Amino acid sequence: MKQDNKYLWVTGANGQLGKILTGQLAEWPDVKPFFTDLHELDITCSIALRKAAMEHPPALVINTAGYTAVDQAESEPEKANAVNGKAVEQLSMVCQTYDAWLIHISTDYVFDGSKNQPWLETDHPNPISAYGYSKWIGEQTVLKNPRGIVLRTSWLYSAEGKNFVTTILDIVEKRSEVKVVSDQVGSPTLADDLAQVIALIVQKIQKNSIEPGIYHYANSGSCSWYEFAVAIMEAAGLPWRVIPIPSADFPQAARRPAYSVLNTEKIRKALNIEIPYWKDSLNHCVKKIIR
Ligand SMILES: NC(=O)c1ccc[n+]([C@@H]2O[C@H](COP(=O)([O-])OP(=O)(O)OC[C@H]3O[C@@H](n4cnc5c(N)ncnc54)[C@H](OP(=O)(O)O)[C@@H]3O)[C@@H](O)[C@H]2O)c1
Repeated sequence: MKQDNKYLWVTGANGQLGKILTGQLAEWPDVKPFFTDLHELDITCSIALRKAAMEHPPALVINTAGYTAVDQAESEPEKANAVNGKAVEQLSMVCQTYDAWLIHISTDYVFDGSKNQPWLETDHPNPISAYGYSKWIGEQTVLKNPRGIVLRTSWLYSAEGKNFVTTILDIVEKRSEVKVVSDQVGSPTLADDLAQVIALIVQKIQKNSIEPGIYHYANSGSCSWYEFAVAIMEAAGLPWRVIPIPSADFPQAARRPAYSVLNTEKIRKALNIEIPYWKDSLNHCVKKIIR
């Protein structure tokens, strides 16, 4: 990481992951933070991107910005491609101009779900939704960058904002039972855990001791959305009934992979970390929400 280009730029700073990451960044030594979100800087505007970079020359960009409305993307794929694809290409080019590293957050939804073992970084993506396709386009542009890291994660949640955990806890306030699909399996991932891993990657970049390329990070273990919902109820000590249903009984605009567990061996070894078990992270998060 070039030391004369000092800014560490986080896009999507007001999003679920962005908020946690920027909160943690305040504690990092030797970085000059530059945080942007949609209302300050639309990443689809290449002129605005270049102007921002000129004013805040980046040493490293962490792109957490994204079009994340999975179902809506089916009816507006151009918009999803613009934010998750074309804009990422522009951002990657800006990074190359400044010899800056780019850590780009991507998704398990680039896979079609047809495997029954955790997906490897070397497995070929085959997205089955417009959102997954748009993210895959973005990934490919980052991988052309010699300082590009694609960090795929899955089923992200946190104590704030709208995500599966907060949605389930909201629903039980209004209803006595909840139906949840049981035939899609993945790994829930606490955004705080992911942010810590991003911090470790930044440290490795600063020490020049990480290879560019694709990495997978998710909390360890796996479950279905149904099992996830049951665990949320248990963590919250709520007696509500969760009823398992097949995806066919819960029509959604976008198809989701049936099995999208990510193999995380590569990042575990690269960072020499133990990855928290999903239920342990969930318990921390639910306690925080209830408090
Ligand atoms: N959430 C998940 O389950 C999940 C799973 C795997 C991977 N990911 C990936 O992880 C990353 C972070 O996810 P998240 O859950 O933190 O998403 P999020 O809460 O939706 O945050 C994304 C942020 O990007 C902003 N944004 C949207 N369009 C933009 C644009 N054109 N220019 C600048 N900013 C823009 C959004 O602003 P507005 O809110 O104002 O639109 C929002 O603040 C995303 O890349 C996502 O694809 C998420």
